[in-house]
Amino acid sequence: MTEHNVCDLPGIVARWNNDPANMVQILRDVQESCGTIPSDTLDQLAKLLGVPRVRIEATASFYHFFHAESHGAYEILFSDNIIDHMAGKEELKRYLCERLWLEPRKLSEDGLVYVDDTADIGLADQAPSMLVNGYAVPALDHSRLDLIAELIRNRKPLADWPPMLFEIPDNIRQAGPLTGEAFTPGAALLATIARGTDATLAELEAANLRGRGGAGFKTATKWASCRKAEGEAQEHAGPSQVLPGPLGGEPSVARFSGGAHYVVCNADEGEPGTFKDRVLLNSHADLVFEGMTVCARVIGAKQGLVYLRGEYRNLLEKLKSVLARRREKGLLGKSILGEQGFDFDIEIHLGAGAYICGEESALIESLEGKPGKPRNRPPFPDRCGYRNQPTVVNNVETFACAARIAERGSAVFTALGTPQSTGSKLISVSGDCQRPGIYEVPFGVTVRQILIECGAEDAHAVQVSGPSGTCISFREFDRIIAFEDLPTAGAFMVFSRERDMFEVARNFTHFFAHESCGFCTPCRVGTSLLRNTMDKLAAGKGSAYDMNEMKNIMHILLDMAHCGLGHTAANPVVQTMEKFPDAYEKRLMKLDFEPAFDLDGALSTARLITGRDDEWAHLAND
Ligand SMILES: Cc1cc2nc3c(=O)[nH]c(=O)nc-3n(C[C@H](O)[C@H](O)[C@H](O)COP(=O)(O)O)c2cc1C
Ligand code: SF4
Repeated sequence: MTEHNVCDLPGIVARWNNDPANMVQILRDVQESCGTIPSDTLDQLAKLLGVPRVRIEATASFYHFFHAESHGAYEILFSDNIIDHMAGKEELKRYLCERLWLEPRKLSEDGLVYVDDTADIGLADQAPSMLVNGYAVPALDHSRLDLIAELIRNRKPLADWPPMLFEIPDNIRQAGPLTGEAFTPGAALLATIARGTDATLAELEAANLRGRGGAGFKTATKWASCRKAEGEAQEHAGPSQVLPGPLGGEPSVARFSGGAHYVVCNADEGEPGTFKDRVLLNSHADLVFEGMTVCARVIGAKQGLVYLRGEYRNLLEKLKSVLARRREKGLLGKSILGEQGFDFDIEIHLGAGAYICGEESALIESLEGKPGKPRNRPPFPDRCGYRNQPTVVNNVETFACAARIAERGSAVFTALGTPQSTGSKLISVSGDCQRPGIYEVPFGVTVRQILIECGAEDAHAVQVSGPSGTCISFREFDRIIAFEDLPTAGAFMVFSRERDMFEVARNFTHFFAHESCGFCTPCRVGTSLLRNTMDKLAAGKGSAYDMNEMKNIMHILLDMAHCGLGHTAANPVVQTMEKFPDAYEKRLMKLDFEPAFDLDGALSTARLITGRDDEWAHLAND
């Protein structure tokens, strides 16, 4: 845990191979050592990397975790998911601010502390939680905040804070093949080598493994397509090279013969309420890295990358040590397990606070050091991904499943689940239940069964797969978790009868408006309009007209947004409107339009200045 020091820019740039494609990592390191990314640093970086300043500025200004102004020695960001609110986050934030004599979003007068909110940090099972200088502190309560306030007042370096503050239990409540059964590192690789790559791919196909990141694309199809794709790409981007932007376009650099294939693990896990990848990486990283290495063997990749969300900074050193151990055991590096030509290694890149970077093409943009804006697709990453090379992007859990299939064969895998949704699924349970945590369940389990297991028999609603997923009411609890009914990336947020489902949806509209990358107008404007309209309803100024407008916005988002974020951004509003109409109706003042802004009231200062209060100095009321 670094304290803010003098920034060794040349050292940081050299650590990242003087490669502008590593810009996000370079900026992260600059901020971690300086505490900010000052404007003059951008000029120096531009010189060192040989790229225009504007290119660095575009990246630095895109990510929520980068800032040019000082946030003091302690930057505190409270996780702002609805589950954190339900667990008393707002009151605790006020409490800490009072104890530290400061206002949120303003640097304290002594320049020591800055307090703000951030999107969900992957700890909904231990809410409320926060980040201190990027490190997660779970399970906040008054006594923990008293201790933290004391440590800050005494200017204790973060490295000297009691380790118990940063301890994050896995909370595995129901284990299964991924989380509960022993795995010997190397077992899946030995089986893959013995079986051969064609047969391994056939095994994956027979297992009918589908991606665990949400969309459920068939993994064998993706790997086979990537394996077949020619590396038509360019040499690693050197300092003066320009990689194509989100709109694609011809790369403006020389092509070279013989491309590379890449394996990318999507560990961005930004969907509010999801934390199962956190647990897999914390306690089952070997399984994940082994799945990536099996993939490398099948598609012929030499390099793998893990895109780890910035909020999981706590995991970085541990993951690096697992990688080092695997290198020592000959499970990574040159001639893996003595196989001539089987060379593969894995590098970890950290995100910097942008939910959109979980979208695979935005993730690749981010890995290439650019703002995380989704690319035009096709081409899909399996043909043209990282550095324009054929790239497999899979979720953490998908790689863990692939390792199990390679190790044990498809029959063991398909013994669980349904024919269309084989195997097990990790569910991240949070909210109004007695036992929040990870439940590894067979696909096909009903929502009701999970509710019974987690102690939430009296639940009123469940948000399956986070804000971009499906809100289901108590009438639908016999539906099943499966691609054919309720597909999910893993979030399972439980709401009791006491919860106001309007407020749940309102929180989600704030999330989407905050996280829209701004690339396309329908989403940039649509998500803001949704948020503003929900705020208008909350302020008691809503009408039936506004409800219709929100439905119209949903159609625009569905038809015209560029990526999945925009397509799903209106789901929470439209679904809660349909399933919990009372939550909206009680807020409607009128059937016709009611302005959110009191224009006549706003003119009162002008009337005062001009000394007028006659009929003509007022706007007509009808
Ligand atoms: C806005 C948005 C956010 C996403 N976030 C994630 C994420 O955090 N983790 C993930 O694995 N997939 C995420 N996805 C899905 C990825 O684009 C991609 O489908 C997935 O990584 C493919 O892996 P899989 O086939 O193993 O599921 C996201 C998609 C969208 C549209
Ligand atoms: S839909 Fe939203 S998140 Fe996706 S590209 Fe457009 S603005 Fe960005």
